[in-house]
Amino acid sequence: MPDPVYVHDAFARIADRYVLTNHVLSMGMDVLWRKMVARQVKRWAPKKLLDVASGTGDLALEIQDQLPNCDVLATDFCAEMLVHASNRGVARTQVADALNLPFETGSFDAVTVAFGLRNMADYPAGLREMRRVLRPGGNLLILDFSLPPGILRGPYRLYLHHVLPRMAGWLTREKDAYEYLGGSIEQFPSGTAMLELLTECGFIQPQARPMTCGVVSIYQAENPN
Ligand SMILES: C[S@@+](CC[C@H](N)C(=O)[O-])C[C@H]1O[C@@H](n2cnc3c(N)ncnc32)[C@H](O)[C@@H]1O
Repeated sequence: MPDPVYVHDAFARIADRYVLTNHVLSMGMDVLWRKMVARQVKRWAPKKLLDVASGTGDLALEIQDQLPNCDVLATDFCAEMLVHASNRGVARTQVADALNLPFETGSFDAVTVAFGLRNMADYPAGLREMRRVLRPGGNLLILDFSLPPGILRGPYRLYLHHVLPRMAGWLTREKDAYEYLGGSIEQFPSGTAMLELLTECGFIQPQARPMTCGVVSIYQAENPN
């Protein structure tokens, strides 16, 4: 599991170039993925939403745009990332560790986490904490990388471990942070493994939706009543 000190420092170092690097490395697909997440969240019509590990606030901004009547709170343990979220227009931000959220039990209708759970030191602890702050019947949505199935997996791994760190190193001057990315994706549960983890952590009706040939997946689940 990722070392939280390394993760915090790595994101603090790349914060200024994080948004641009994401757009370049995903060839703009990250914008589309977040739009799809926000569209799914809109179906739940939450009044209070927590975006965990919000970073520079891309998902929180998209949700704010698509759900103008929803109270969106963006949290992250890296203040350097959250500064960008505020500057880019996220209305409410708060520095908070996802493994120890400073919120009362059952205080949110929905919790979202994009490319964040994978970076946490303890995935089950992160999921349990997200469930704790969800109201009974509230919804969780996770957007994160997964490994494409079949013949695409080999070429994708080549891109992930060799091409991507070089390009990101050139863009951010922080090649090691993107070498870490490939390793973190390899270790992160995806597909049925994630559905099992969600069930183990007390969620019900877990669902997985792979996108872009399985390079990323949207997972959703519900906090029982
Ligand atoms: C890859 S970025 C994702 C940012 C944003 N959600 C997005 O979609 O672009 C991962 C974020 O997770 C945050 N993070 C990692 N572990 C965390 C923790 N335990 N508590 C809060 N934030 C955490 C990092 O600081 C970083 O901003």
